[in-house]
Amino acid sequence: MTTHPAPAVTRQSLLETLQAFKRTSLLRAAVELGVYDALAAGPLDAPRLADAVGADPRALRILLGAAAATGLLDTVTGTVTGGDHGGDRYALPEGAADLLVSTSPQYAGHALKVNVSDWEWEAMRDLAAVVRKGGTLLAPDATDEDFTYWTDFAADGTFVTRAAAAALVEDTRAWATGLRQPRVLDVGCGHALFGLEFARQHPHAVVRALDRPDVLVQARAHAERMGLSDRVGFIEGDAFTTGLDGPYDLVIAANMLPMFPRDQGTGLLRRLAGVLRPGGRLATVGFSVDGGPPADEHAAHLLSLLMLISTPGGEAHSLETTRRMLADAGLAELSSRRVGPLPVHVVTAEPLVATTAGLQEGTSR
Ligand SMILES: C[S@@+](CC[C@H](N)C(=O)[O-])C[C@H]1O[C@@H](n2cnc3c(N)ncnc32)[C@H](O)[C@@H]1O
Repeated sequence: MTTHPAPAVTRQSLLETLQAFKRTSLLRAAVELGVYDALAAGPLDAPRLADAVGADPRALRILLGAAAATGLLDTVTGTVTGGDHGGDRYALPEGAADLLVSTSPQYAGHALKVNVSDWEWEAMRDLAAVVRKGGTLLAPDATDEDFTYWTDFAADGTFVTRAAAAALVEDTRAWATGLRQPRVLDVGCGHALFGLEFARQHPHAVVRALDRPDVLVQARAHAERMGLSDRVGFIEGDAFTTGLDGPYDLVIAANMLPMFPRDQGTGLLRRLAGVLRPGGRLATVGFSVDGGPPADEHAAHLLSLLMLISTPGGEAHSLETTRRMLADAGLAELSSRRVGPLPVHVVTAEPLVATTAGLQEGTSR
């Protein structure tokens, strides 16, 4: 028997957990107000910073003090005089110039809109009620067409998109290099960065990206930005019911399966398998909870929690369950790999028996 003891609960650790949401609020407010941008040129005291960001000086002084106290800002003490601790100047902590100044190429402030979205904030408040009920209280929920959050989500990749897309391209490279013009479907594409990265790496590939119309506005923008518009087409609709315009050499289902319970996910995979050309492949990407030490699967457990509050029956399926879903959909695993230290897996598979592409395309919700 293996035990994975959590760190001891102390008054201090309890207090930190109770206060954690305030630190999140401080970060969100500092980014929204433009505090990090205003400090990009160098340290400023509170009155000058209030002037620069157009905020109330007293209120901003309090926010800055709390941000510095919780490690979100550096202080440079004693260089300016002023009442109510106004003598401190505030400065960017290490790393903030890269990650929190909006002109930086590594800017990660967009992630606030995704990770600290208003709906999630609200929904987490009702977590106990969600657990009593057994699923989301949201209407619409994350699987519905009018769940507008996905449009924000598609504005940028997540912290794992780049590494996972690179792994997917790597795991299909030898096979895809032998194809004259690989035809790819990126289903539930969001930003479409998985299909777009494949297209970038394979100059003859053509991609179809499927998602809701509003989300595809963002995917189109990414395709243009990457200079790939001439090889990327879009299918507005529902992955379970809309015509998929097959056949394809490669179908990508990235971070789609966790939104659905096992049976529904299997139905989706079966439908996608039906539009594969003979010799074609299907790739899934997703966080999985695999029964390891919970702390090692931290991000996957939190993703599962997110699926719990936002979908009727989704969760971060284990790798084992994903394999069974693939097998039940008539697909045989070819490769699987964990993406770096994160509990994210890229799995590639091929049909167990060659299908007549397109013939099985139907509705399987
Ligand atoms: C978690 S995001 C994944 C986006 C992207 N593939 C990625 O890996 O980052 C889920 C995406 O699936 C889309 N989606 C959810 N249900 C869908 C459905 N039934 N048909 C088409 N797209 C759907 C959402 O609009 C959203 O863009």
